[in-house]
Amino acid sequence: MKLVWLTDLHFDIKPAWGVDLDARLTAAIDHISAHQSDAAYCMVTGDLTNDGDRALNEVLRARLDRLPMPWLPLVGNHDHRAHVRDVLHPPGMDGDCVQYAVETEEGVLLCLDTQREGSSVGEMPPARLDWLAARLAQYQGRPIFIFMHHPPARLHSQFDDIGLEDRAAFLDVLRGSRDVRHIFAGHIHRRASGVVAGIPFTTMQAVSFQAPGPGTVWDWDAFIPVKEPPAYGVIYIEGDDVTVQSELFCTADFGWTG
Ligand SMILES: [Fe+2]
Repeated sequence: MKLVWLTDLHFDIKPAWGVDLDARLTAAIDHISAHQSDAAYCMVTGDLTNDGDRALNEVLRARLDRLPMPWLPLVGNHDHRAHVRDVLHPPGMDGDCVQYAVETEEGVLLCLDTQREGSSVGEMPPARLDWLAARLAQYQGRPIFIFMHHPPARLHSQFDDIGLEDRAAFLDVLRGSRDVRHIFAGHIHRRASGVVAGIPFTTMQAVSFQAPGPGTVWDWDAFIPVKEPPAYGVIYIEGDDVTVQSELFCTADFGWTG
């Protein structure tokens, strides 16, 4: 199975964060349409719009509907849950949360909701962890792939300030399963990979703007993106094998407004 992966679109029809957000998303969709039309799904792991506005979600839906495959939205800290639910129509909900499972021949895609309303910090409160534990039990023995906005690991970056709170409780739930094969996360606007609680994870470059790497300290009120190309991910899941590649669909200059 092949999946395409978009994260951190921060979609807006006007430029922000030093880039033309609409132009970059359009370039990504054009590139995917030309080269990845055989993918089963396009995963969209949060920060869908820049400010959660309902009308922007409606324009975003029209953009994403150009994709040649079904797309699956998750919420990030910039999103508005009810607007995502009502406008982007995720295929399932866990109460008010955008959490759902998608069964495929190669395994189960578990899409989690790590948003803490009104905050950039992520969270998985007990009720959401209960839902996760129930899905792990329901699909025991099948390969499970987790998609979430906030990464499950400390990345030694300024993003740790707004990372997933109480990761230990989240990881304890995953430790109870032998079926989780990979975790895919957004939020940090950079490519990173590693292993957490024995489970491989990957974060992907943003479709919108890129963030400085570890060792760089910044003030969130004066955040300046780094001029690096955006990317989308291409995931292949074939039996026990999982590979993730970044596709740099345009140059760092494209859509750069400074
Ligand atoms: Fe983001």
